[in-house]
Amino acid sequence: MAKKTLNDLGDLKGKKVLVRVDFNVPLDKKTGAVKNDRRIRAALPTIRHLLDAGASVIAMSHLGRPEKATPDERKNLTMDKVAAKFGELLTVPVAKAASDVVGPAVTAAVAALKPGGVLLLENLRFDPREQKNDPEFAAALAALGDAYVNDAFGTCQNDKDTSMVGLPANLKAAGKPRAIGLLVAKELEIIDGLMTEPKPPVLGIMGGAKVSDKIAFINTLLAKVDHLLIGGKMTYTFLKAQGVDVGATRVGDEEIEAAKPLLAFVGKKITLPVDYVAAKSDDLLQTQVCEGAIPAGFEGVDIGPKTIEHYKVQIKESATVIWNGPLGWFEQTAFSRGTQYIAEAMAASAGVTVVGGGETAEAAEQFGFAEKMTHVSTGGGAFLAYVEGKKFQSLAQIDDK
Ligand code: 3PG
Ligand code: MG
Repeated sequence: MAKKTLNDLGDLKGKKVLVRVDFNVPLDKKTGAVKNDRRIRAALPTIRHLLDAGASVIAMSHLGRPEKATPDERKNLTMDKVAAKFGELLTVPVAKAASDVVGPAVTAAVAALKPGGVLLLENLRFDPREQKNDPEFAAALAALGDAYVNDAFGTCQNDKDTSMVGLPANLKAAGKPRAIGLLVAKELEIIDGLMTEPKPPVLGIMGGAKVSDKIAFINTLLAKVDHLLIGGKMTYTFLKAQGVDVGATRVGDEEIEAAKPLLAFVGKKITLPVDYVAAKSDDLLQTQVCEGAIPAGFEGVDIGPKTIEHYKVQIKESATVIWNGPLGWFEQTAFSRGTQYIAEAMAASAGVTVVGGGETAEAAEQFGFAEKMTHVSTGGGAFLAYVEGKKFQSLAQIDDK
């Protein structure tokens, strides 16, 4: 059943709308600059829709994990740079609220907001109550607005975040309207369609490091896809679990345990790379393409040329392709071929192509293929959890139409 969306919020003229966005964007470690603004761009249609309807917007997000940051790292986690980027992309000035997330200065800034105005609150996680579904924090946020929009797909799996669950619950009690935004609506529609009636043949491509983190996702995919291609670091987990020597590639014991139940699918639904690029651990310039065992002192860093060719054919022959996780160490140009060629083949496909996961989306974008995919999800953990069929408390808060 479809959730209430922006058009169900009623007349918005002169209303102040609280919009939970996911502006948890990657930052440059040294300068704190926004390294990738994809998540900010993805929220713009909702913000524009609300402003065009005569509302003002109080946007709010978390940024990073301040509770785990050093004082220096924490300085980079204020929303100042995000607010500047948001304003630049929206081409409307965005005011950044005071350094407290809620409080008298914020209440005053909200009172001064005029229709068409946009205010971005400080990093929600600067207030430790954000991650505790705290009723008082929910009430303080709720007092700022007349309506609530959840357009933070990437955060929808967080059941304890006040701004995602406690806040809309508080607004419901006050009889104020709540809806999902255009981004969340689009993510749900595409992923629901993908999981209920994907057009066959369906291909899954899994990369990234940890099998253990993705086991439920892999099992869900196995039930839906005709083939599942493996790449990335998890390749070497599968190889080691099969008893193949992976040289200096580090593979944890718990990873091997997680991969073991999947070995029964290898050679059937699951395809492992037939070759891989290995680099010398203490001199990454020394590389070789391996089939079978990886020599001592070398570690697997990318899928090999035969595998790339084989995977490209599989992509071409599929009507639906779902990809999560880089195929190699793509941040290093020399080891990015697997990821780049897979992204390129998906971009060239006439079928439905969906990319999920923060790093995977970044890779698709870095190589210039993001716009050519059917959909690039803004969710990392949220994408995996939603595909797995997890029920989100945040979405349960928004009424069906
Ligand atoms: C994400 O990037 O995964 C979301 O923004 C949620 O952030 P979190 O993983 O720190 O809760
Ligand atoms: Mg996460």
